[in-house]
Amino acid sequence: MDNFFNLDIPIGDIDRVDGKAKVTGSAKYSAEYDLPGLTYGVLVSSTVTKGSISAIDTKSAERAPGVLAVITHLNAPKVPGYDMGNNPAKPNNNRGFRIFSDNKIYFNGQPIALVIADTFERATYAASLVKAQYEKEAFHTDLLTAEKEAIKPLEGQRYNSNTRGEANAWKNAPVKIEATYYMPIEVHNPMELHATTARWDADDKVTVWDKTQGVKSTQSSIVQAFKLDEKNVQVNAQFVGGGFGSALRTWPHVIATVMGAKHVGKPLKVVLTRPQMFLLVGYRPAAIQKVAMGAGNDGKLTGISHEAISMTSSYEEFNEGVVAMTRALYACPNVTTKYTIYPLDVSTPTWMRGPGEATGSFALECAIDELSYALNLDPLEVRMRNYAETDPQSNKPFSSKFLKDAYKLGADKIGWDKRNRAVKSMKEGEWMVGYGMSTGMFGAGRGAGKVAAKLLADGTLVLQSGIADSGPGTATMMASIAVDSLGLSPNKIRIEIGDSSLPPGPTQGGSGTTSTVGTAVSNVCSSLKKKIVEAAKTSFLFGNDITADDLLFKDGSIALKKDPSKKLSYPDVLKAASLSSIELTDESTRDAELQKYASFSYSVHFVKVKVHPLTGVVRVDKVVTAADAGTIVSPRQAESQMKGGAVGGIGMALMEEGVIDHRYGRWVNNNFADYHVAVHADVPPIEVAFVNKPDPVLNPIGSKGMGEIALIGFAAAVANAVYHATGKRIRELPITPDKILL
Ligand code: MOS
Repeated sequence: MDNFFNLDIPIGDIDRVDGKAKVTGSAKYSAEYDLPGLTYGVLVSSTVTKGSISAIDTKSAERAPGVLAVITHLNAPKVPGYDMGNNPAKPNNNRGFRIFSDNKIYFNGQPIALVIADTFERATYAASLVKAQYEKEAFHTDLLTAEKEAIKPLEGQRYNSNTRGEANAWKNAPVKIEATYYMPIEVHNPMELHATTARWDADDKVTVWDKTQGVKSTQSSIVQAFKLDEKNVQVNAQFVGGGFGSALRTWPHVIATVMGAKHVGKPLKVVLTRPQMFLLVGYRPAAIQKVAMGAGNDGKLTGISHEAISMTSSYEEFNEGVVAMTRALYACPNVTTKYTIYPLDVSTPTWMRGPGEATGSFALECAIDELSYALNLDPLEVRMRNYAETDPQSNKPFSSKFLKDAYKLGADKIGWDKRNRAVKSMKEGEWMVGYGMSTGMFGAGRGAGKVAAKLLADGTLVLQSGIADSGPGTATMMASIAVDSLGLSPNKIRIEIGDSSLPPGPTQGGSGTTSTVGTAVSNVCSSLKKKIVEAAKTSFLFGNDITADDLLFKDGSIALKKDPSKKLSYPDVLKAASLSSIELTDESTRDAELQKYASFSYSVHFVKVKVHPLTGVVRVDKVVTAADAGTIVSPRQAESQMKGGAVGGIGMALMEEGVIDHRYGRWVNNNFADYHVAVHADVPPIEVAFVNKPDPVLNPIGSKGMGEIALIGFAAAVANAVYHATGKRIRELPITPDKILL
């Protein structure tokens, strides 16, 4: 830990290390590698929802100018590792979608051909010439009618029924509520389109530039699919323009690109179109949630029931922790949770920021708000009366929980106590005004990952890890920790990531990167300090008995604590020891000790909304979002992360909804004109506050995670504020004007 907590500047408050590259456009993304001889691939999509291809005519496409190849299921090169057999651990629909492997159609928009040409325009034109005939089959794409249509839910889920205490205890409570909530399909829609560029360097050797949240996981997928040696598969993701979970998997278009590049014997680039971004890289599945709560007149919960129904594709099981938060947030003795998934004729959903909990928290945190009105208690007061001091599900102690502090920070900053608690009581001009709040939580952990450090002769420190940063500022976090540990100036630190040949790091997901990679950075810096001390012993200044504890690591040098005039810069340390560099690797490992604790990050969202009584327009007027995420390593990046979550939350609450026309199984609004995300004009001032108390167990830096909690719960705060403003309880997202006015 060393001097981590007693610097005279805020911990690691350094400029974003990749900021300049990103704003000047010099940052290079996966679609921007203009390799010699590059060819361009365009995917052709199925126009039916279910059935099989009976005939496919590629002749005119093949004859079109500049076309090198048209790949379909009829001529696709074999992907040797695609036949992975059935996975006994996932006995349901685990077949997966193997692109161009047969003539089956599983969802509307499924790729049926890849057209490769010498320019993007020619490939696009030729793709329009591919014509397919289909044997159509009946299909189901609507979660709301799944039960009626006798779709059989999948069985044996990870999140199956669980009862703590007595089932249905809520029914006997003196105060109770029961309600059903609906979360529509949502789509990640990062600004950067998914893109893959692949170049075969030899028959068994390939280099891939891919939009991915994990260079090592993409490498491993390609190794497995094409049966190659790990050392012969190079994956690069130097910069990633947002992911939110859409780049956690290696999707079929990546395999198609690698396959296509080999087929034409030239480098190949495939960039998904925005409409394809809705179909081919996952989405947040819709969910119907029934929540019931009962409490005593003292406001103490006596029972909760939470049943969620969600969706997956017909060929693959996707499940997430929709009801997980309900088991762990409140100290309630009787909790029943149930989660059911229906396989529909759609593409497979995937994790999207705050996966599971973002959906579950909408229902849970609206329901507790409803209960608070039934109890005639302040919604914050109800949460305090049911505050869990230990994990109510596992009975384990929390590694740290400062949620109370976060509640207080948020409530103070928004002026929670100053509002008029009565519904429909506040106005500004002709606008109705309301305040709402909610809680978010997400599991915190620490995984395995390695970081290499090189201290060079000129005093530059290079840190390397095989990870990809989809936006949170991971490189800056790494630099912050090194600045703090080694007393280096930020401009003396170079971070190298986004390259699968670097020491293996984790996939950036599940809010785990700072905990895992930060630990490895912290450890490698500690090891480096020891090496620096060893090297310094060769200098007459310090003598043979010094240890790291005797020294200050500051201003790119070491100095004796007792006599700071005895000082040696890092370059001089290396020179004294005749070293050209010091190089070593250290790691974060999974720690069994952590299993003794329950670990979560928490967020608290307070919002003020204005609702126009004539138009039903809802404007979020002010946001205060506070987090208990352990030590805040890079304050400005962390603030940005929380703001991004709030912006996503405004979108979730008021705008975002993926619409499928269930008569045709086809997307209606798969473009940015019709699928609305929050833009600057929708976003009010957002104030961010951090508890900033270290978690003493999770890792040496005391940091928990933040990516998911930034969003989790947010939409409920808006819905609760809309209720406070209008007296209308909207239980279906998004809260559009029609729902307010009806
Ligand atoms: Mo996140 S949904 O783990 O990218």
